[in-house]
Amino acid sequence: MKNYNLKSLGAGAGLRHEHFQEIIKKKPAFNWFEIIAEDFINIGGYVQECFEKILSNYTIIPHGVSLSIGSTDALKMDKLKRLKDFCDLINAPWYSDHMCFTMVDHINLEDLIPVPFTQETVDHIVSRIKVVQDVLERPVLFENVTRYITVSDREMSESEFLNQILEKSDCGLLLDVTNVHLNSIYHEFDPYSFIQSLPLERVGQIHLAGWEELPDGNFIDSHDAPVPEAVWELFKKTIALTGPTSVLVEWDKKLPSVERLLKEAQMAEEMMHDVVKAAA
Ligand SMILES: [Fe+2]
Repeated sequence: MKNYNLKSLGAGAGLRHEHFQEIIKKKPAFNWFEIIAEDFINIGGYVQECFEKILSNYTIIPHGVSLSIGSTDALKMDKLKRLKDFCDLINAPWYSDHMCFTMVDHINLEDLIPVPFTQETVDHIVSRIKVVQDVLERPVLFENVTRYITVSDREMSESEFLNQILEKSDCGLLLDVTNVHLNSIYHEFDPYSFIQSLPLERVGQIHLAGWEELPDGNFIDSHDAPVPEAVWELFKKTIALTGPTSVLVEWDKKLPSVERLLKEAQMAEEMMHDVVKAAA
């Protein structure tokens, strides 16, 4: 298995309202767009009109931020069924969300909170992923998140945790290379060795992003800056292991022009082609 048996779409970008008109008029050369599913599932009027025009020209992949797969709240089956209808409507080849929790007692914390790396959490998440896969009836990928803290009652490494969940649930990995890089700084490990330890045949998509550096030397995974050199380097080494995939440059705040976004996406695609060619 390569690329979790998904089609490699090359370089894409996040679809944001601010860029609608330019994308509709100029049809820039993105291969695909990723949307935050929760922002588009209940659209109507002008936004829907624009979205449908863009959908007629591009593949659109929905990426969720509130599935809360690690939560102890029961999965909301009505929400999942609405999500399935939406995925069908836009003909989504796969769906992705995060390996974390966002909901506590059905209150959305609006953040991606890391889960404790324990066997109980593995079993809990695996059983929930199986439900999600059954309802959505398409490949589902989960993204590794940034961890600013170490949850104290861990029983295994993050790598072992992800390996177990991915294998036992047979789901895919959305590998966020920036998140690996930032975690490696916070938790002092070698990012390349970490990536090597993952089940790389299950990587079906990659995220890259820039971040904000705070005056005290800490970082925020803010998706508001160009991808730094260290992440490009880690990306190239990752592609040498995974082969071609679908890669997305995330840029959510301080949005650049469509032109700048395209340049960044094309840089990712060129790097990917160069690495794959060199390995052939
Ligand atoms: Fe990401």
